Amino acid sequence: KMMKNVKSDHLHFGGLDTVELARIYDTPLYVYDVHKIRENARAFVNTFKNMQIPFQVAYASKAFSSIAMLQVAKQEGLSLDVVSQGELYTALQAGFPVERIHLHGNNKSTEELEMALKHNIGCIVVDNFYEIELLEGLVKEYNQTVNVLLRVTPGIEAHTHDYILTGQEDSKFGFDLSNGQAEQALLKLLDDKEINVLGIHCHIGSQIFETTGFIMAVQKLYQTMNKWNTLHQYVPEVLNLGGGFGIKYTEEDEPQPLAQYVEALVHEVKEQAKQYELPIPEIWIEPGRAIVGDAGMTLYSVGSIKEIPDVRTYVSVNGGMTDNIRPALYNAKYNAVVANKSNEESTKTVSIAGKCCETGDMLIWDEQVPESIEAGDILGIFSTGAYGYSMSNNYNRFTKPAVVFVENGKSQLVVKRETYQSLTQNDLFYE
Ligand code: LLP
Repeated sequence: KMMKNVKSDHLHFGGLDTVELARIYDTPLYVYDVHKIRENARAFVNTFKNMQIPFQVAYASKAFSSIAMLQVAKQEGLSLDVVSQGELYTALQAGFPVERIHLHGNNKSTEELEMALKHNIGCIVVDNFYEIELLEGLVKEYNQTVNVLLRVTPGIEAHTHDYILTGQEDSKFGFDLSNGQAEQALLKLLDDKEINVLGIHCHIGSQIFETTGFIMAVQKLYQTMNKWNTLHQYVPEVLNLGGGFGIKYTEEDEPQPLAQYVEALVHEVKEQAKQYELPIPEIWIEPGRAIVGDAGMTLYSVGSIKEIPDVRTYVSVNGGMTDNIRPALYNAKYNAVVANKSNEESTKTVSIAGKCCETGDMLIWDEQVPESIEAGDILGIFSTGAYGYSMSNNYNRFTKPAVVFVENGKSQLVVKRETYQSLTQNDLFYE
């Protein structure tokens, strides 16, 4: 739908008037600026291209998976990281090229592995010994070959701007490098003629601001590769360094430009390859948040406002931890604006509350909003594109919001709002 006569004090997002979007599609509403999604994807892809190294950028679809989103990922030439049958099903429904789909998970079921084999997906990221057993059985049964990556824990864990080195790795994911389990898994997989060990995978964390942790991971992997080359003449074709590239939610956050993460990684891989006289592998990465995080925002309607004199003002909106659980779960910080009063200068401090029957359902503590904030205003929260809709839930039997894509001055509904019928569709009367 084209929109005209936009008012100047209205917040625009992706070139469109957000107040108008709220009116057309109702609230709570997720809005994605598709141009921004493409820009983020291209920042990764073009940096690899410029550095002339074979690569894949696999979008981690757990950040936000829907058919329309995966269509855009496909158009941008991305690969896809899926972690469940549900995410794989969505990818197949979207017509995503199967050879560019990678399956993750620390507890893949027989059905999941069968689905992956049946659809001949690009690779399975093998996580544990139980999975190796299952996979060995299945490839023999179907007389089928499969590409795998071996997921290892390099003993580096990064969060935001700090990282920790863990000697003995304590993680539910992957094979430990320090206690020989990774090597044992490699040998087991190399023994199977149906299984092609394409390479190694590691993921060191999420919302990481610095390149240090990634560089340390590359160094650790090259030590291992050198050892495995000497002992077992095994040299991986692919090095998958996972996701975790940080984004800016508020002024406090200071991530690198996306290109810089790639430059640092590729630079270090080239250095290490030279040092150990090993070939330069294909570099794969798995960004989720960095592709969609700042490309999405949420629009709410303001309802009740409770002023406790000298204490706090609670401004309640018609959503909350059901559509964005990150503040409640991780104490995540966001910024908001009143979309229909984006030019008002006098402000006051309020806290934005969700409408769930739960004290912890707060979206933002102490945000500056226009003095005149009142019921009926449209409140927009920025950078909710990653792990917002994808972690949404039906607590208090709230319906999940609609999702709208905007691009080139047009908006389009891409995920319908849930209805009350959707809430009870699986319920059965007890007889
Ligand atoms: N690859 C692997 C193996 C992962 O486990 C993850 C995220 C990613 C890639 C993508 O990471 P990203 O680029 O999005 O940071 N729900 C949390 C984030 C959980 C991340 C889990 N794994 C949040 O809302 O912050």
